[in-house]
Amino acid sequence: MIKIRNYTHGADIYTTAIELDISENSIIDFSSNINPYGLAEGVKNSIVESLEYADRYPDFNCRALSAALSEYENVQKDYIFCSNGAEESIFRIVNFLKPKNALVIAPTFSEYEHALEAIGCNINYHYLKEENDFILDEDILEDITQETDILFICNPNNPTGQLTEKKIIEKILTHCEKMDTNVVIDECFMDFVSDNEEYSAKNLLGIYSNLIILKAFTKIFAMAGIRLGYCMSSNIRIMDGIKETGPIWNVSAIAQAAGIAAVQESEYLSESLQYIDEQRRYLVEKLDMLDLKIYPPNANYIFFKCMKDIDLKYELLQYGIMIRSCSNYEGLDESYYRIAVKKDEDNKLLVRALRNIL
Ligand SMILES: Cc1ncc(COP(=O)(O)O)c(C=O)c1O
Repeated sequence: MIKIRNYTHGADIYTTAIELDISENSIIDFSSNINPYGLAEGVKNSIVESLEYADRYPDFNCRALSAALSEYENVQKDYIFCSNGAEESIFRIVNFLKPKNALVIAPTFSEYEHALEAIGCNINYHYLKEENDFILDEDILEDITQETDILFICNPNNPTGQLTEKKIIEKILTHCEKMDTNVVIDECFMDFVSDNEEYSAKNLLGIYSNLIILKAFTKIFAMAGIRLGYCMSSNIRIMDGIKETGPIWNVSAIAQAAGIAAVQESEYLSESLQYIDEQRRYLVEKLDMLDLKIYPPNANYIFFKCMKDIDLKYELLQYGIMIRSCSNYEGLDESYYRIAVKKDEDNKLLVRALRNIL
């Protein structure tokens, strides 16, 4: 029998469909946090147009895409490396830097651990405190020592949705510089944050050579199936190393065309962000009336604790609704869940089902 890879994320409608003997298209997936507007029309058109040239190899340097991203992010072109989803950047960074000791926040996105475990790196955890609403604060400095080769921070954090203030980020970077620690800040959900300039570490790129920022088209441009992400750093040694560590044609011509088109979609962005904001308010208001503790969301997903002893994921599957149980996150248990902010009709279905269950 074919061995199925150990999978620790949401979004696995394929396995759920097999288990429930239904079509994957009939599942209402709240477990992956994707812009509910779906693929922008301009992106779809660019993909179709790119097929004309799909018999050619793609530009392995992603030159046009990096130039477009440089404008979108207001970051120098040579600070950008494009990858097959942000996940590939995580693995390349770890494979190039080969850290012996890593510090990872818990709970957080689990691919940092997977990449680190794959190279045999020793992982230490900095546990966020429930009584502090899982917000990262200066306590972390005590856990960063000369032994720490790499630190991963997710801002806003997945699954908690909590933001780390820039002044804390700066203190961490300064301390890490002294400790010779590289810092990877995952900002894959930052573009969903309304005042993101206040939180993003982008303007610190030229200042801290130990800083690497991760981003993705996956969530904000709803391009999960296309696979396109990038990382940014002013450290040329690291950027060159990341390029050399992995396949050369890692981003397809189709993904490159989609990315170039996506960053032009300013109307799509502003409209969808406003919509997500409205729908997030609706969900928080309705969920707050139930036996759930909601942690104030900052991106396109909501993290909560169920105060009743009940398997909410299982119960909601009976309604064809899939949510993310957070029981397999380091530092959490089965009472925690995460839901995406989706379209109005789906959000209403979720609220109705939750009211029935709780
Ligand atoms: C915080 C975070 N970073 C990175 C990724 C990986 O993104 P991609 O799908 O672009 O590889 C995810 C995916 O869920 C994520 O939640």
